[in-house]
Amino acid sequence: MRMRAAVLEEFGQPLVVQEIDLEEPKPGEVLVRLVACGVCHTDMYTASGVDPSGYAPAVLGHEGAGVVEAVGEGVDSLRVGDHVVTLFSPQCRECEHCLSPRTNICLAIRDQQGKGHLPDGTTRLSRDGEPIRHFMGTSTFAEYTVMPAIALAKVSPEAPLDRACLFACGLSTGLGAAMYTAKVEAGTTCVVFGAGMVGLGAVAGCRLQGADRIVCVDLSQERLQMARHQGATDVMIGGADTVEAILEMTGGFGADHTIEATGLVGVMRQAVESARMGWGLATMCGVAGKGETLAIIPRLLITGRRVAGSSFGGVKGRDQVPQLVQRYLDGDIDVDAFLSHRLTLDEVNKGFDLMHAQDGIRSVIEFA
Ligand SMILES: NC(=O)c1ccc[n+]([C@@H]2O[C@H](COP(=O)([O-])OP(=O)(O)OC[C@H]3O[C@@H](n4cnc5c(N)ncnc54)[C@H](O)[C@@H]3O)[C@@H](O)[C@H]2O)c1
Ligand SMILES: [Zn+2]
Ligand SMILES: [Zn+2]
Repeated sequence: MRMRAAVLEEFGQPLVVQEIDLEEPKPGEVLVRLVACGVCHTDMYTASGVDPSGYAPAVLGHEGAGVVEAVGEGVDSLRVGDHVVTLFSPQCRECEHCLSPRTNICLAIRDQQGKGHLPDGTTRLSRDGEPIRHFMGTSTFAEYTVMPAIALAKVSPEAPLDRACLFACGLSTGLGAAMYTAKVEAGTTCVVFGAGMVGLGAVAGCRLQGADRIVCVDLSQERLQMARHQGATDVMIGGADTVEAILEMTGGFGADHTIEATGLVGVMRQAVESARMGWGLATMCGVAGKGETLAIIPRLLITGRRVAGSSFGGVKGRDQVPQLVQRYLDGDIDVDAFLSHRLTLDEVNKGFDLMHAQDGIRSVIEFA
């Protein structure tokens, strides 16, 4: 079929919206009609050419939600008409990692996904017979996408898809970091560094876990205001003296949990240093620049602080994204507050500009 999609043609250049070809789903795959898609940092990062693993031409986009239009042979988990959220982090439910409660990092299709292929090593996207590669296994800056069934979470049809799409990446990453990776306990003190989509999600996650005190640190007063709305009990402007300020607030010990959502290694270091002696857990969500390292004084670890990393918030996508969406429907999470701009597919590059200018939390592309 023919469809419109935003293609990364050349690194550092705007995406080009155009008509390209999409093949039918093969066995184990599903054709999804996109209804909405958020614009996330990873899309911009790849488009910029800074990501060493990036490739072109490719159809970007990974924060999608839509409706199943057709299923390939052997797909019994989804039916035509189902509402789905796309998962760049799939869940096959069969590999060693999926069978373990300790991780959400599925091993099933990693290699092919990283190369921009579907699991059988080919692409469904093409132009004049030349293959165009998929991105993060999702390619949701397009009217339609073909994806493996194991990379789609079936969500309640009651959830508006322009909000459900935020659960495809940023929001679930933040919520999950608190709920599934850190497993924040009720009554604890938590510090969240960063109040973008991920950090605000983490603040909400700490609140849902029953944290007693939630401190949010950011550079923007406006964003800190949003953090308060999501449940932060204290907010502060970040800087060189942040660790000292947090130690002071916590009787000199540090916080039970710190969650980093900035992507800055200097802030990651602050997250480690403001975690409590004895048992403080510092959870890293941010994606640092290529070659950057995190400096930790080993004594901080010997005296009981721990460090964890969190990919997609530790969320096992097919099982837990539907649960998180349900919590939104139950009124536990104010998702509307994150949806700052609505764009058409043709305005996708404006989504990058808005993100660059830190204008709003999320821009969402809506497909007519
Ligand atoms: N682990 C994952 O699976 C995953 C998924 C999505 C995004 N991410 C990463 O998470 C990070 C956050 O994503 P986002 O969409 O929320 O980004 P964002 O840019 O919207 O938010 C980052 C926030 O950090 C704040 N900040 C900057 N310097 C600071 C400082 N010194 N102290 C405190 N706050 C500071 C900024 O003001 C901003 O509000 C990024 O690195 C992104 O790539 C990771
Ligand atoms: Zn993302
Ligand atoms: Zn798996």
